[in-house]
Amino acid sequence: MHKGFTLWFTGLSGAGKSTLANHVAKELRHRGLKVEILDGDEVRTNLSKGLGFSKEDRDTNIKRIGYVAKLLTRNGVVAITAAISPYKEIRDYNRHQIGNFIEVYVKCSIEALTRRDVKGLYKKALAGEIQHFTGVSDPYEAPAHPEILVDTEQESEEESLRTILGYLEQHGWIPKQAQAKAARH
Ligand code: ADX
Repeated sequence: MHKGFTLWFTGLSGAGKSTLANHVAKELRHRGLKVEILDGDEVRTNLSKGLGFSKEDRDTNIKRIGYVAKLLTRNGVVAITAAISPYKEIRDYNRHQIGNFIEVYVKCSIEALTRRDVKGLYKKALAGEIQHFTGVSDPYEAPAHPEILVDTEQESEEESLRTILGYLEQHGWIPKQAQAKAARH
């Protein structure tokens, strides 16, 4: 059985967590690994249905995601999470619970996110129509020492993906592409 681990994405809404999570998942499956994605938006429609965005509800949400990631990880699955996870304390709690934990900080400035505003939420948050919006009117505690940092304001999607895969290869979490291909023959 391959060694499971959790790839924990954290970053502001719209920074690119889900997009990168999906790309990484596809590539890892290609290399023969079992992968599950726990995406913030999706988790909030099932596992965390009914939770809001107070600190308490966010903490509950992130602990639930961490719990499922722990179960997957200990069974040899690669758990990829993509929720804002704004509070350092809860991310660190999950890190200790899970053990094989790799934190990916998806960095992007509020200015760039407001410019992009894919979901139109920043405009509403800045106008005061959504309260407690992360990065605008609610805290985001950036990780001080993430294992991986990608800056989606400066890098292309492809570059960020390469950074993540490169780290995982270098630290022996995933097979190198060439080896994976060879293993399939
Ligand atoms: S977390 O704080 O609990 O980690 P999560 O990633 O699950 O957040 O959900 C964030 C998503 O919910 C955002 O991408 C956005 O679409 C939506 N959302 C709605 N209200 C808020 C809010 N007040 N703050 C942040 N995101 C919000």
